[in-house]
Amino acid sequence: MLNFAAMIGKEIDTAIHFLEQGDLVALPTETVYGLAGNALNDHAILKIYSVKNRPAFDPLIIHTSAVDRIHEYTLEFPEPLRVLARSFMPGPLTLLLPRKTIIPDLITSGMPRVAVRIPNHPTVQQILSRLDFPVAAPSANPFGYISPTTAYHVEQQLGTKIPYILDGGPCKIGVESTIIGMEHNRVVVYRQGGLAIESVEALIGSVSIKPHSTSNPAAPGMLKSHYAPSIQVVQEQPHILLKQYNPSRIGLLRFQNKHDGINPQHQIVLSPMGNVNEAARNLFAALRYLDQLDVDIIGVELVPNHGLGRAINDRLQRAAAPKK
Ligand code: TXA
Ligand code: MG
Repeated sequence: MLNFAAMIGKEIDTAIHFLEQGDLVALPTETVYGLAGNALNDHAILKIYSVKNRPAFDPLIIHTSAVDRIHEYTLEFPEPLRVLARSFMPGPLTLLLPRKTIIPDLITSGMPRVAVRIPNHPTVQQILSRLDFPVAAPSANPFGYISPTTAYHVEQQLGTKIPYILDGGPCKIGVESTIIGMEHNRVVVYRQGGLAIESVEALIGSVSIKPHSTSNPAAPGMLKSHYAPSIQVVQEQPHILLKQYNPSRIGLLRFQNKHDGINPQHQIVLSPMGNVNEAARNLFAALRYLDQLDVDIIGVELVPNHGLGRAINDRLQRAAAPKK
């Protein structure tokens, strides 16, 4: 593996230069930071899998600058998805569409659909509009770990493996995009994310949310144990944890208030005002903070299950799922 001295900067031209050379750069988006490479270049794609240590059965999202470029990579655009694209792109929405053969098998893990997203971040918009190829970008974290929401998070884990990290500030949404496709003329949500299901349903009526299985992930990457810190995470009330652990060995992720009787430094509150959007923005940084504490267990509390709260609860439940 090549060793780079991590360079963090704000130079759009530098990012473009590396991408055009077939190298990888970390790019900010409004959801999470992505590990970006030329989606039409097999060497760049293989680097992404290798830097992330990601299994090849887990396909990648391609990113482009505008809805009217999507047809370059896809065969059809079913009407309900077109309606969603018109309202929510650019934004935290990824659509699964039948792919053209220009999209390499490595991108889709050989599957017939390709995942397409248009990020809503001014810097990345500029970069994508200047490139004549789409950019593949999974979240810029080692496979199975917490997604990064700052340039510093990326540097901590991938800093020696990529030549450039473009700093676009902290991510404004903080959870990954909502992934939507169609099956048998029904709109299906494969991953709950930064676009609330309520907003989707207000526009196109009710949608199915597809349960995924660990053994055969339908939206692969939707593996049960995902987003997992190194310290064990449990979805358990503090008073139960206090029966099993020394108070000094417990970390807590809370929604609105800290819990008495546990070191306040070992607790993170996601949103004192009880706002699920604010909680989403703080979620992954909070999990990272708790994961570097000297504690034995992290207890997490679910948040209200509406809006982005549903994506937060999905991530928390995966973080707490037993690792295989
Ligand atoms: O917000 C996001 O979507 C971020 C930013 C960087 O754009 N990207 C992201 O990528 O979260 P990643 O690779 O960490 O997660 C993408 C998910 C994976 O779980 C993958 O299985 C699913 O999208 N996916 C990609 N292509 C697919 C396809 N053709 N069919 C089914 N699922 C697909
Ligand atoms: Mg990811």
